[in-house]
Amino acid sequence: MLPIDPLMIEHRLIERMINQVRNEIEQIELEKKIDIVFIDAAIDFIKIYADMTHHGKEENILFRDLSKKQISKQHQKIMNELIDEHKYGRKLTQELVRAKEKDIQGQGEDFHRVLGLLNQLVEFYPEHIRKEDKHFFIPCMDYFSQKEKEDVLQECWEFDRKMIHEKYKSIVEHWS
Ligand SMILES: [Fe+2]
Ligand SMILES: [Fe+2]
Repeated sequence: MLPIDPLMIEHRLIERMINQVRNEIEQIELEKKIDIVFIDAAIDFIKIYADMTHHGKEENILFRDLSKKQISKQHQKIMNELIDEHKYGRKLTQELVRAKEKDIQGQGEDFHRVLGLLNQLVEFYPEHIRKEDKHFFIPCMDYFSQKEKEDVLQECWEFDRKMIHEKYKSIVEHWS
């Protein structure tokens, strides 16, 4: 198994969640109100799974190791774009949290703000994933030896193993 295999499997789950967000957008447009339970679940998925767990492995393991290598200008350019895109995704999610909270407090303008941000997220994720799947992950594997690939994969499993503990520790800390 290559280190990019679990990352690509994660892309498929993110795409499925994004499809659910797309369905929710249609629902919101019909009903003119947001379903807070769904929005909270989507925010949790994006923050913990798509960002901390998935982007976390990309940035802290794969991109970190690639930045120690002599990669081509083209791959360097794409990697910089991907890092900027992760920041953009984080910013959208933070704005969504704020807009959702204001909407709960009944500040009418924010219903449209939530809708706008959901639309930006469903545009952003598939394009970002496509760039990684089609233009970056596979060619980047050539920079690693067999042993390095195995080490990266191992570190990815270890990263995942710790994540569930991080998540629930943060919940306890939030409520302490
Ligand atoms: Fe990414
Ligand atoms: Fe990714």
